Amino acid sequence: MKDQHKILIFTLLAVSFFSYSGFLYSANSAYKTAEGTSSDRGKRLWQEKNCIACHQIYGLGGYLGPDLTNSYSQRGPDYIKAFLRSGTMVMPNYGFTEIEIQDLAQYMKSIDESGIGMPSKLKINYDGTVQQP
Ligand code: HEC
Repeated sequence: MKDQHKILIFTLLAVSFFSYSGFLYSANSAYKTAEGTSSDRGKRLWQEKNCIACHQIYGLGGYLGPDLTNSYSQRGPDYIKAFLRSGTMVMPNYGFTEIEIQDLAQYMKSIDESGIGMPSKLKINYDGTVQQP
């Protein structure tokens, strides 16, 4: 193969790679949690306390506790807050302050609005992006 052909093929692959990556990043940017908001602080607490060890969100995580993706709309904020305030036999009581509980509830709300707990119900588009049902 001539060197010119190799350079042409490489250029085509490089251009496709960068334009597709750019497209995917811009297509998903709407789901980011805003920095400094209550739900963002809740997300940090979620990561710090490693809630994912027992719970799934968007269908991924540990299996000791239930998937929490849609708990907010299914159970409501008061139910979630009561759980976080007292814990249970299995789930630890972290001694959260009321503000921290509010932040975690807001994070649960943002998860609920951005996805579903059963990935098998998602639709995969021809370009590799994923769509809510
Ligand atoms: C050691 C495992 C474990 C960890 C860690 C854990 N949980 Fe749980 N959680 C559970 C279990 C198990 C349940 C189900 C209730 C039960 O059986 O006690 C539950 C229930 C819940 C519920 C109620 C959900 C529903 O729909 O009924 C919420 C909300 C919740 N957890 C939030 C959290 C948050 C937020 C964190 C992190 C700060 C966390 N959990 C950490 C085990 C855990």
